Amino acid sequence: MLLFSFLRRRLKQMPLWKIHGPPAVSFLTGNHAQMYHVGAAQFHEHIMKIYGRVIRVTGFLWDTVLLISDPKACATILGDQEMFEETDWFIESSLAVFGPGLFGTLGAHHRKQRKQLNPVFSVKQVRCMTPLFHNITSQARPLSDILHAKAIAGPQEVDMIDWFGRVALELIAQGGLGHTLADTMHRHTRAVFDEKKARLERGDDVFKQQLNEGKDIISVLMQKNSGAEEEDRLPDEEILAQMSSLVFAATDTTSTALSRILYLLAQHPDVQETLRAEINDAHVRTGEPELGFDALFELPYLEAVCRETLRVFPPPSYVSRVARADTSLPLSRPIDTDGGAVSSLYVPRGTTVGISILGVNRDPSIWGADAAEWKPARWLAPLPDSVAAARVPGLYANTLTFLGGGRSCIGFKFAQLEMKVVLSRLISAFRFSPSEREIVWRFGGLTTPSVKGSTVMAPQLPMILERVKGWPRL
Ligand code: HEM
Repeated sequence: MLLFSFLRRRLKQMPLWKIHGPPAVSFLTGNHAQMYHVGAAQFHEHIMKIYGRVIRVTGFLWDTVLLISDPKACATILGDQEMFEETDWFIESSLAVFGPGLFGTLGAHHRKQRKQLNPVFSVKQVRCMTPLFHNITSQARPLSDILHAKAIAGPQEVDMIDWFGRVALELIAQGGLGHTLADTMHRHTRAVFDEKKARLERGDDVFKQQLNEGKDIISVLMQKNSGAEEEDRLPDEEILAQMSSLVFAATDTTSTALSRILYLLAQHPDVQETLRAEINDAHVRTGEPELGFDALFELPYLEAVCRETLRVFPPPSYVSRVARADTSLPLSRPIDTDGGAVSSLYVPRGTTVGISILGVNRDPSIWGADAAEWKPARWLAPLPDSVAAARVPGLYANTLTFLGGGRSCIGFKFAQLEMKVVLSRLISAFRFSPSEREIVWRFGGLTTPSVKGSTVMAPQLPMILERVKGWPRL
């Protein structure tokens, strides 16, 4: 209560728009309310348009934060994990919630975990999960009921984010943990772990008899780990911590991304029809009711829709790091300061740097004047030379959506496959249009949809769907 009234008093006292300093390195004080407000995406875009690629802002805890979207500076931050690490509060809260998994470890300890986990997320490994992903998508209610119903009641409203959330949770549960989830996470992950360990100790054949034939991420990790060199081997508690970290990392991110795609497809029926035609052609061409991994990744329009959505609407808009010592950040483009133009920024120890994923992904000097517009077709023509020239340090499509460097998203292929399987099934079977209820997107750790004026805290995405006549039988 005390903390709450203190925060409220601080907010009231603050002038919301008090700007000091020259436009390039701008010091925005009292911007706190706009920075973290549910409608903050527009504010972020606005300040980046006016003040450029490096902005000094007031952070969440009234600390000073450098909000950076300069690609060279981002590359330095992401490339030097010893110097720029996760914030202490992030590490401590992750340790408390998940235990010593990828989110809760630093430096050499974190690198050791990534060394063991990276191969488990390879394309080869993720590819094996395609049939499982199809299976879960087509079985998930209520869409499966509508899909299989004999009588078709005409267009109906369904909360799609609720459905995406349940599909995403089941996919990481079965694809990640090799187990279906029905109850609370911790109790379950412990039980799943103990069962797998016992099976592993009894021998490989028994291991293979479990759900998804032991090809889920944690089963593969446990098998690899048991044969690893002593110094590389992860202790049981760290494998257990990866399990809850993965469920956390994989669920809301992908369901939010899918929600945004579907929302945009409903707003742009022409794009939706083009996508449907491409998916249906692929069904006819391959003669397969379930498009396999290669077929899905060879569809250019599906790829373009995914890339463009993840570029313009990255689920997390920014991530934070802290400088562990005094250092400097080289810039792609010099900026003006009180002391004249500089091409490198001095960053004192303890400074929080916010990497603006949104800023890099929508930078007009990289993507062109229409950078903020959602245009899937831009990926079907050669991109402007400025995209390659910017050398964005991300691992996906010249964007920072899945970040880059030692703490980049380990599940990015898993996420891509999930999005493509789900979309290929939904778009060929249903036509989506907007509900009468207006959707607003709330800015936060993830930017999530909700109904305008609704007091419901959980994300909502009501959409009208109707069966597509003559859709290829799935
Ligand atoms: C569209 C979906 C997704 C997006 C946009 C996304 C994005 C990201 C981003 C930006 C980070 C860096 C976070 C930070 O540094 O603070 C991250 C980390 C991570 N992601 Fe994802 N992610 C997605 C889906 C997934 C999935 C499906 C999985 C697992 C199957 C996953 C597992 C992880 C893990 C374990 C980390 C921590 C990596 C580390 O610290 O080494 N993510 N993700």
